[in-house]
Amino acid sequence: AGDEAFVDALPKVELHVHLEGSMLPGTVLALARRHQVEDIPTTETALADWYAFKDFDHFLRVYRTAVQVLRDEDDFALLARETALGLAAQNVRYAEMYFTPFIHTRRGIPIDEVFAGINRGRLEAQEATGVEIRWITDIPGGLPGVDILAVADLTVQFAVEHGGDSVIGLGVGGAEVGVPRPQFARAFGAAREAGLRSLPHAGETTGPRTIWDSIDELGADRIGHGIRCLDDPALVARLRADRIPLDVSPTSNLRTGVVADYPSHPLPTLIAEGLAVSINSDDPPMFGTTLRDEYLHALRDLGLSRAAVAELAAAAVRHSFLPEYRKNVLL
Ligand code: ADE
Ligand code: ZN
Repeated sequence: AGDEAFVDALPKVELHVHLEGSMLPGTVLALARRHQVEDIPTTETALADWYAFKDFDHFLRVYRTAVQVLRDEDDFALLARETALGLAAQNVRYAEMYFTPFIHTRRGIPIDEVFAGINRGRLEAQEATGVEIRWITDIPGGLPGVDILAVADLTVQFAVEHGGDSVIGLGVGGAEVGVPRPQFARAFGAAREAGLRSLPHAGETTGPRTIWDSIDELGADRIGHGIRCLDDPALVARLRADRIPLDVSPTSNLRTGVVADYPSHPLPTLIAEGLAVSINSDDPPMFGTTLRDEYLHALRDLGLSRAAVAELAAAAVRHSFLPEYRKNVLL
């Protein structure tokens, strides 16, 4: 009982959450009905069953099907507003949120419509609650039949055009298997030159090589997941020495099958190794979680003390790209 009050009282920031993975069940059903989208479950129970992922690739296939309910500017505004309001209700004050322009443009939705929608929703929620959202544009790895370097160029071009505005970084996500990071060196170089942060997913479904490449070739400012660093002591030493933070999402790892259960989740080991880590929700409704739940799992299922959990919340503030004077208010 006291755990909930403790978690609710922590001012939180979320560093790793995907806009498209944040659609509430009722919103998925309503949008699917409105736009008559096929292949989408029509009840909340069926939707929950649909979200029982066999493995990471299965998760990605469901994800790519689910996003098809997003069709017009109003859908994107609704999603961004609901997601931001949901964060505010958990005492989350600020979030760095991935969105993936190409999974919408490839369905024929103009990027300007997507961006106008998500910024409208973002600002409406900010006006209502004070919660602030900044965007990270994500390159989607592993799409069948797609020239990923062309997608990378489009994504970085968009990010650079809007950098300094509401866009703060460039990411790469989706599949890691078969999507080596060095090929994105030019895209991330251009982004960094424009003042954007480098925020690749790495070491979620593949091993240390992807993390090394993300550091050495992409200049990673943080690593999405990164849990497989533990396979390589030299990599752990490098992450610790350079203080490169990992955005860890325990429930995501369980639900995509990359970790078997909470007791075997490596978060406590990552902390014991002296690494910079925070906890995050990734795709909360799809994984049956929220950021608040991740903090509760850390206390109840990962065996962390309240002091350790408070430190995770403070670490997320420090790892964020808020200006220093804004961080100080939250610490
Ligand atoms: N896109 C949405 N969720 C993701 C995850 N957990 N890993 C990689 N890409 C993603
Ligand atoms: Zn992610």
